Amino acid sequence: MKINQPKSVLTGFLLRFVGLQFVAFVLAIILIVFGYTLVTRTYVRFQASQVMDVMLAVREYTSRKINPLIAPINASSEEAFMPEAVPSYSATKVFEYLRLNNAYADFQYREASLNPTSPSDRANANEAEIISRFENNPRLREVNGILTDNSDHSQYFLAKPIRLSKESCLSCHSTPDRAPKSQLIAYGDKNGFGWKLGDVVGAQIVSLPIDSGLPSPSRFVLLLVLAVGLMSLALVVVGKRFFESLIARPLRQILRLASNESYESEDSLKHLRQRADEFGSLSRWIFKLREELKRR
Ligand code: HEC
Repeated sequence: MKINQPKSVLTGFLLRFVGLQFVAFVLAIILIVFGYTLVTRTYVRFQASQVMDVMLAVREYTSRKINPLIAPINASSEEAFMPEAVPSYSATKVFEYLRLNNAYADFQYREASLNPTSPSDRANANEAEIISRFENNPRLREVNGILTDNSDHSQYFLAKPIRLSKESCLSCHSTPDRAPKSQLIAYGDKNGFGWKLGDVVGAQIVSLPIDSGLPSPSRFVLLLVLAVGLMSLALVVVGKRFFESLIARPLRQILRLASNESYESEDSLKHLRQRADEFGSLSRWIFKLREELKRR
């Protein structure tokens, strides 16, 4: 009795195994990229909000501790205005020093206004839009998002409204006649006035590259694809070996036992019959069957 050489089960197994691996691979990449984006966004947001908190504290410190010391000097002096009394000035200055630290070199901090005292604080189009969102929605405490500009590095931004909530601000921002003369000499009497208590007068905006302090998503994905790809390849090689020795080889031996006349002479076929597993039982059955066929 001759049996034609069948198609190997190993090929079928490997095809399914590799197919399954591929699907798992694609799913894993999608999941990890999604997770990575979430983690980077949280991390970047965390960094921005920390800087924002520090800047708020500097503003507060200037209002409470420095302004009362310097305001009288500015008020009586006809000479150069001492901007150290101004919360906005101290916050932006402290930030300049913070940026000297390499870890913060990519960060930006702005106190943007539509009617700024200092021309450098004039809001650009993006900033103006953020400020008008705060003006239109008094309950909005924070806005964040992505700023895309012409460069290929997208910026994450976190913004908070600056509301004129203290009487002390009015001495410099209500009408020019209330402001220190030295301020008028330094900044003029046209801008940064006419503000009222409760107004949104500007926005604090912290921005930083979206991938600040992290490997860029494209590099991360490349590394990931390489790592998972190599692992899958290793799994296929190891899986093939296991399958070959555990299933494919004993199956081929059983096939020989069923078809080959000279099975008594083959050691491996004798061993097969001594196995305790399913292959052993199957080969013992085939052996018995052949003995019976022979007797007839
Ligand atoms: C001593 C006068 C003075 C006081 C008090 C003061 N400011 Fe100002 N403010 C200024 C000057 C001058 C500038 C411009 C500083 C600079 O050169 O960066 C400024 C800048 C700002 C800016 C940035 C936009 C712009 O106008 O250039 C905001 C916002 C602001 N002040 C809000 C406030 C608020 C809110 C308070 C109260 C907590 C306050 N200021 C108190 C004088 C003052």
